[in-house]
Amino acid sequence: MNRRKFLKTSGLAAVAAKGFGATAGALPASPAPRGGANRARLTVIFDEPIGRLNRNLLGQFAEHLGACVYGGMWVGTNSSIPNIHGLRKDTLEALKRIHASIIRWPGGCFADTYHWRNGIGPRSKRPTTWNLWWGREEPNAFGTDEYMEYCHLSGASPYVCVNVGSGSVREAVEWMEYCNSSHATTIARERGANGHAEPYNVTYWSVGNENWGCGGAFAPEDYADHYARYVNLMARAAEGVPVQFVACGLEGGDWNRRFFEALLRRPAGRGILRTVRQLSIHHYFHDGAAVDFSDRDYYGLLAQVGELEAILRRVVATIDEFKEPNAPAAGIALDEWGVWHPVPGQGAEALLQPNTLRDALLAAVTLNGLCNLGSRISMACIAQVFNVLQSMAITRGAQMVLTPTYYVFDLFQPHMDQAGLKSVVESPTYEVQEGKRTMARDYLSAAASLNESRKQICLTLVNQHLTDPLDVEIEFAAGASATGATLRELTSSNVRDQNTFDHPDVVVATAAKHLSLSGHHFTHTVPPHSVQTLVVNLV
Ligand code: AHR
Repeated sequence: MNRRKFLKTSGLAAVAAKGFGATAGALPASPAPRGGANRARLTVIFDEPIGRLNRNLLGQFAEHLGACVYGGMWVGTNSSIPNIHGLRKDTLEALKRIHASIIRWPGGCFADTYHWRNGIGPRSKRPTTWNLWWGREEPNAFGTDEYMEYCHLSGASPYVCVNVGSGSVREAVEWMEYCNSSHATTIARERGANGHAEPYNVTYWSVGNENWGCGGAFAPEDYADHYARYVNLMARAAEGVPVQFVACGLEGGDWNRRFFEALLRRPAGRGILRTVRQLSIHHYFHDGAAVDFSDRDYYGLLAQVGELEAILRRVVATIDEFKEPNAPAAGIALDEWGVWHPVPGQGAEALLQPNTLRDALLAAVTLNGLCNLGSRISMACIAQVFNVLQSMAITRGAQMVLTPTYYVFDLFQPHMDQAGLKSVVESPTYEVQEGKRTMARDYLSAAASLNESRKQICLTLVNQHLTDPLDVEIEFAAGASATGATLRELTSSNVRDQNTFDHPDVVVATAAKHLSLSGHHFTHTVPPHSVQTLVVNLV
């Protein structure tokens, strides 16, 4: 089932207007290149900082859906697949290698049906429930304590989404107490009896998921009412942990404005509005088949990043309208994003899809776009970490294969926690017809950041041209000068290439190699359909 069909059959009418995915139409067989052929320019500007690139930009999302949790993260203590207390070892290690920053859990639509008490205590006594959204039995074997241990072992921060759609304020407050309380309350002692005496100190809490759709089909004013009631008590239950609440937003329409206005109309309006530290936005891409896509579909998919960038700029503008003069602005939590190919949506293999180099390039262009918004993006979680949608790895029994997208997350590591730098791209462009609209995009996508000592700059470059290399003139404004660099790259001979269980290493990132370049102005070639990370030393 593709996403459109899923939305239709699951009754999420409100999201039909979201504008993801390509519409079929009269499309040129291949986009026409415009502008100067195969030469582009990238100017990196040092004196217009855009804020720190939050390491949570490389976040993950895990939902009880298909084989994401059961198969990807949890195999059980009696499994012959190597595990630590039932947690799958190879996927844990894979996440550790890319320094996974944050893992959002337990959904997704599943979150607004999840009752956390079903997932604690002796596993043999936990109930089996029915996963309403994704059509399979839920054994509740992976619950709060297993999730926290998975986060701990992978090095990621937990990010919990509470149940607004079918839960209660009391349930959410008690969940927070279970996770964060250091008092000798019965609930905190229960956590101790379940093997973890110390509080988990969870910082990130999302108040529901897609509450305009699967999370309760609320109007923004009704959601504001629920949000205020949840946060009013959850904030008190936080117990000194500097918790951050993430409110549900929407990428289109007037949901965000109406939500903020409704919060402001409450007696403690400003106070409640201030609790919205991040606003959740979701965005999915889709164009053509997962593997046998046309060249038009290739460009069509990549061009959709332009739509996402425009959406994010509009969300930033709305946030700023409601911002108090001396208070920090809420960040955007793009806590679900990625490519959603047309694949079945129910059961044990729900939303399991192949992952090609095209998907990886889409991820890289998206991440460049997020980096270019600097500190305005506080978090981004790709959907989903294993076996579902644009995953990091696919498992089958004891086997695991890393996807091309995994390597993009590896290549973007050097940006994390660095100071984002503004950069100006001048590039030949491609055009894609999308219904009645023509989308024009630069072949070159780029982002830049500077390390703390100002001695190294990281550039992530994507040449989206299918066949031609791009010579990029790179210029460091403000007198910074290069003295050598390291280069890593992800590409393959065909953009339809993927890693399979039989051939797991078709699309892998290269090891770092030294490049001798110097000066504040140099030319560097980026091969067709490739992603590169250049870490340049500065004098
Ligand atoms: O990631 C799959 C689903 O997509 C999530 O459950 C939901 O939040 C979104 O619509």
